[in-house]
Amino acid sequence: MDASTGAADVTETDENQESPASLFVDLNETAPALTHWRTIDELREQHRYFFNTEAQGYWVLTRYDDIREAFQSPELFSNHSIVATNPDPAYRFLPSFSDPPIHMDYRRPMNPWFSPASVQRLEPRLRELAAAEVARVADDGSCDYMAAFGDRFPVAGFLASMGLPMDDAEFFVSIAHRMSGNAGGGDEAAAAMTAAWGELAAYWEDMLADRRRRPLDPSLDFVTMMSTAPLGDAPMPDADIIDILVTLTLGSLDTLKSQLGWQMWHLATTPADRSRLVGEPALIPSAVEEFLRVFPIVSMARKVTRDVNFKGCPMHKDDMVLLSIQSATRDPRVFPDADQVRIDRSPNRHIAFGASEHRCLGSHLARVELRLALEEWLKVIPEFEVDQDEPLLARGGQVSLISLPLVWRRS
Ligand code: HEM
Repeated sequence: MDASTGAADVTETDENQESPASLFVDLNETAPALTHWRTIDELREQHRYFFNTEAQGYWVLTRYDDIREAFQSPELFSNHSIVATNPDPAYRFLPSFSDPPIHMDYRRPMNPWFSPASVQRLEPRLRELAAAEVARVADDGSCDYMAAFGDRFPVAGFLASMGLPMDDAEFFVSIAHRMSGNAGGGDEAAAAMTAAWGELAAYWEDMLADRRRRPLDPSLDFVTMMSTAPLGDAPMPDADIIDILVTLTLGSLDTLKSQLGWQMWHLATTPADRSRLVGEPALIPSAVEEFLRVFPIVSMARKVTRDVNFKGCPMHKDDMVLLSIQSATRDPRVFPDADQVRIDRSPNRHIAFGASEHRCLGSHLARVELRLALEEWLKVIPEFEVDQDEPLLARGGQVSLISLPLVWRRS
């Protein structure tokens, strides 16, 4: 028992750890590319954990091993909220905001849909979609990759994976754009986000009602499949299905766009890696893993379930804890030359998709889309560079380039 907190000491404490640092760190600001990760790298080397006084305040774990262990301890770290600055959100992401055992009840009907085998069946269609996006810009000789490819390919891939026609692509592009914060900051952007969220929920409500009236083939149409999905022994409530559909939309479009941007930025600024991948396309899957590791776009939070001394960190019930994936996957204790891109790195046990029961449902789909985007681009446009002299800017939070102007010689 820890006398000062009265907490059960469930894990060893760090003998060298002094009283926890209390800092204010804002990782949401727009800054030159790579700044967010370099700041996190410095913090990790100074603090195994610290208390960030942003918003209501929350703990931040910085090391790979601690973060993995925390992810795997749902009895201590609840998914009641996964947003560090919002311990009691008014909205609900599902299955994200659920704990065992009901969490698995949510995942069970969806896991086969997003399994490696299902994604493999979808691959030829996804490849066509990636190739079509490349063909659309190839003759232009330049583009803003984030808008030309990043806004469009993830939407096309999402619609294909859900069994939906491409007719609604523009609607989803607009939703993703307004939800991403790219519409600018302040009250106007917040109002745009709320409106987009409402439109998205209404879209899925209408579709669910329609599929109940006129079901499609449940092996081809995700919404029809979910309309009869169980939740344990009972039918899944409609409100839960809508929250799942909204989460899937928000979780899949902007994440992929951000990640696509970083892998393309690296290749545009590192000709040696680019020509190596052109010459050895079999290395692309390993390069994609490395880009996920070195450019980790998201981190996830948890809510502490009881007073606990975790690795020496004196946490209290209902504290929020940021499990900084963004720090873990660049931890030099686990990855040699952790801040360097090595496209043939092996082993590469990064946790960019999480490390718990909540591991990303769309990770197999994301991996295939990230690979196809590179394969199809490099076939047609093997040489390209950044068309801007000043450093490119990235927004924080979910770290993403705001724009990526590319230029290449027309074929
Ligand atoms: C590069 C792209 C992506 C990254 C980096 C990413 C990252 C993550 C991470 C780190 C988690 C774990 C959350 C946690 O432990 O609390 C997660 C969960 C999730 N992701 Fe992704 N994701 C990506 C793409 C996608 C796609 C394409 C989809 C949809 C098809 C998707 C759907 C989800 C869902 C539904 C969850 C919640 C799973 C659960 O709580 O059980 N993600 N994602």
